[in-house]
Amino acid sequence: MNKLYLWGIIIIAVMLGATYLSVGGSKGGLNGDIVNMLAVAGAVSLVIITVFVVVKYVRQMQVDSASGELLKDNWDGIGEYKNEVPTGWAVMFLLTMVWGMWYFVIGYPVNAYSQIGEYNEDVAVHNSKFETKYKDITGEKLVEMGESVFLAECKVCHGISADGIDGAAANLNKRIDEKSVKHVIEKGSNNKLLGMEMPMPDRNGLLNANTGALITDAEIETVSKFVANKMSGAGADIFAGTCAACHGEDGKGLDSVAPSIATYTPTLVSNVLTHGKKGAIGVMPKFDRLNDKQKEAVGAYITSLNK
Ligand code: HEC
Ligand code: HEC
Repeated sequence: MNKLYLWGIIIIAVMLGATYLSVGGSKGGLNGDIVNMLAVAGAVSLVIITVFVVVKYVRQMQVDSASGELLKDNWDGIGEYKNEVPTGWAVMFLLTMVWGMWYFVIGYPVNAYSQIGEYNEDVAVHNSKFETKYKDITGEKLVEMGESVFLAECKVCHGISADGIDGAAANLNKRIDEKSVKHVIEKGSNNKLLGMEMPMPDRNGLLNANTGALITDAEIETVSKFVANKMSGAGADIFAGTCAACHGEDGKGLDSVAPSIATYTPTLVSNVLTHGKKGAIGVMPKFDRLNDKQKEAVGAYITSLNK
């Protein structure tokens, strides 16, 4: 008998022996457990088929020779026969591509179960319950809710008393510090403070109607102090001439034109939380995970600090 077949039979015997030792010998094992029996039968046939297929091909490599027309190109003397692409293979290839596109676009990613999807659904359900439950709270209760949201989410940067921890974040006990006002006048601002894209021009777009000229360094200095000083002191005329057209005479803002810079409002805070903000102090991250009621509440809390 060919040595190869002998090796095949030996390998089968060894593998069956190993299979018996690991499965058949274990407790419960082959005794009446149909699932294990099936698994063992499957393993046995896999071993036998594999060994026979391997033997067949090794044998073929030993004795076979090929014939046919070679392609023009060869690599280090190793050439390739001219073969037609088998139709079945070509059809399978195309079908696999079509299936792959279906799978990516319509199949798995869009319709399948996902943990993140389930989490998002749960959050949405919880948020809607939360919002229904607390829909009607206003006034003092809303401020209290806002304070607890603030202590949980905001105090790391803004500090327990919302003073901004020595300038690390905005001091929310006042609207708004001089440095920030100056920064905005010089550089403009585009933070969606109104909830939409509505930028404020930089100093090259700020005309003082009283003088008919662009705002000057000295005017910037004065008007920044005026705004930071709760809209009082020197600079009222500059504010009236340069800023009031957008921010209103009292600085409390005009709907869809410019935000209030005299006071905080729940809407302003809510917009900052939705879009985040970059300014003279640094970056305020957005807080998507707060729901609308929580944003409104923390807005009411911050507004209450400035009474
Ligand atoms: C053409 C209209 C316009 C004029 C004039 C204008 N502003 Fe503004 N201002 C805006 C808008 C719009 C925003 C909101 C920009 C944003 O979304 O970031 C804004 C934002 C600001 C902010 C930022 C508030 C914050 O919370 O960061 C400050 C401060 C400010 N303006 C001060 C001034 C001062 C002071 C003047 C006058 C020297 C002035 N603005 C003139 C339209 C204007
Ligand atoms: C990672 C630190 C950080 C956290 C957390 C944080 N903030 Fe801020 N926040 C900042 C910084 C920095 C600024 C100043 C941005 C600037 O330069 O104008 C700021 C500014 C603000 C402003 C002022 C916007 C203006 O127009 O002047 C408000 C309002 C605000 N934060 C509210 C909150 C609330 C409410 C929370 C909690 C839900 C919070 N922040 C959490 C860093 C933070």
